[in-house]
Amino acid sequence: MMVMMWCWASMAEGEYMLYKDPKQPQNIRINDLMKRMSLEEKIGQMTQIERSVASKEVMKKYLIGSVLSGGGSTPSKHATPKTWINMVNDFQNGALSTRLGIPYIYGIDAVHGHSAAYGATIFPHNSGLGVTRDPVLIKKIGAATALEVRATGIQYTFAPCIAVCRDPRWGRCYESYSEDPEIVRLMTEIIPGLQGEITDDSKKGAPFVNGQQKIAACAKHYVGDGGTHLGENTGSTMISSKKMFGIHMPAYNDSVVKGVATIMASYSSWNGVKMHANRKLVTGYLKNKLKFKGFVISDWQGIDSITDPPHANYTYSILAGINAGIDMVMVPYNYTEFIDGLTYLVKNKFIPMSRTDDAVRRILRVKFTMGLFENPLADYSMIKYLGCQEHRDLAREAVRKSLVLLKNGKSSTKPLLPLPKRASKILVAGSHANSVGYQCGGWTVEWQGSSGNVTTGTTILSAVEKTVDPNTQVIYNENPNRHFLKSNSFDFAIVVVGEPPYTEGFGDSLNLTIPEPGPSTIKNVCGSVKCVVVLIAGRPLVVQPFIDTIDALVAAWLPGTEGQGVVDVLFGDYGFTGKLARTWFKSVDQLPMNVGDPHYDPLYPFGFGLTTTPTKTT
Ligand code: BGC
Ligand code: BGC
Repeated sequence: MMVMMWCWASMAEGEYMLYKDPKQPQNIRINDLMKRMSLEEKIGQMTQIERSVASKEVMKKYLIGSVLSGGGSTPSKHATPKTWINMVNDFQNGALSTRLGIPYIYGIDAVHGHSAAYGATIFPHNSGLGVTRDPVLIKKIGAATALEVRATGIQYTFAPCIAVCRDPRWGRCYESYSEDPEIVRLMTEIIPGLQGEITDDSKKGAPFVNGQQKIAACAKHYVGDGGTHLGENTGSTMISSKKMFGIHMPAYNDSVVKGVATIMASYSSWNGVKMHANRKLVTGYLKNKLKFKGFVISDWQGIDSITDPPHANYTYSILAGINAGIDMVMVPYNYTEFIDGLTYLVKNKFIPMSRTDDAVRRILRVKFTMGLFENPLADYSMIKYLGCQEHRDLAREAVRKSLVLLKNGKSSTKPLLPLPKRASKILVAGSHANSVGYQCGGWTVEWQGSSGNVTTGTTILSAVEKTVDPNTQVIYNENPNRHFLKSNSFDFAIVVVGEPPYTEGFGDSLNLTIPEPGPSTIKNVCGSVKCVVVLIAGRPLVVQPFIDTIDALVAAWLPGTEGQGVVDVLFGDYGFTGKLARTWFKSVDQLPMNVGDPHYDPLYPFGFGLTTTPTKTT
């Protein structure tokens, strides 16, 4: 009896399983695995939970298919890559110890570089990158981000955000490359950077992730997130079909053609219909018409807000969301409620088994495509990429190309920029002059970003100190008063002011003013010293009231950790080349106002940007 049992057990262990054989065609592997899976195992695959509620045991017991880091959710403060990898692998060991050993996938918001990880290279946010209109550069940024994410053992990012922000009052406008759908389309080149370039034999719509140096991407938020009324985050986009498909949809088509692995549903509504429940657009258009074969993920508690108030009827939310075509749900905390609800709905045929099977196939397809079954565990060999010099140099280049020179001199014959490196005494002022956190903005280490030294980087002040002639005296005063300004004689001043960091709805603003003390710093300094104002902001802000006092004005967006890039251009080592990818309004009551609108009367039009000639002698 004992011998028989032993024989039987070892046979089972050694049994050849088609789905585990990498030589088998992908469809055969998926079919084989699907046949073996119980309903419980399938529903587990559709469940994404937050790392704070995940553990090896939870992964195993609930057969969880995916884990995420919510904004600012890290294994420890300033976690090292090793700590990240150990956490990711620990959960994986839980997933691998289940009956079928299906690997889970870990997702994170690497939205301007591996932005949650301390010590990573932080690239400019998308509003700055759109200015470059440089698809080669953005692809390189994607590739660098993939390496840095892999350096921490993670395989999946919730990026790029391909929103077309039509109203800067929206708090997420900086996550958008442009108000112009064509620029956003161009910037989908970040997808082949993150995932790898699709091969000629790839089927249209099939997800593509090329091996262990690449990560799965996520085009978000489907669709119309940047078009909401008054720019309200998660609000309703009230536009015609023609505008929805002409403005907000095209970049999704490009993303699908480029093999994007996943697409995230938007919190927003289209003419009052929640996107998380929009079967026509999620299943009808994305899956059936565009032939998207990766998986659709919900946003964070996104199905909850199908009802108003959110979570009022969670069973209904699951029903409406899954039937609309959502494949994986970012639950992310109360996973038993989700699992129980979905199980009930499938067992009682409110949701057809064909729907959950479609969802699971898509999730497995992404996992097989990226080689997760063959390489489920990360090693330490890629740690060296996190924040490496090569990536910082790339980010610095991106910063230089993202700057837009809006004004240069009180008269065009007397430009202020480029600034001379040799002077007797210069002033650096402003709330944003000496803060890596402020120049990075939201989604940097913390969900909302933060002030001060949030991560490793170069502030604009320290870059100025490094750049000027050794005999030039650099005086830093964050918010100098008149007396201080009068009692010193400065050759010129660099004033760096702007918005404090914010993320999502916290950034919604109906007035778009530069918060105090920014305006007073501008007035005081520029009232008595020749000045260039560098604006650190995710979007155009109200500048008309002080534009006449300012000698030169530079829009630097949210440049990230490499502040040296700003200074490279201010002092003429490189020229200004950036052209506005957004319209700069005069006053907020003009909004929304985008290029091509009949009432177009901007302060600086879309495409505007002065240039300078580099003074560098090589
Ligand atoms: C999470 C974020 C998420 C947000 C949604 C936060 O608590 O950390 O990742 O985007 O909630 O409101
Ligand atoms: C945001 C998404 C993000 C998710 C996970 C949500 O609140 O809308 O863009 O990917 O949280 O952090």
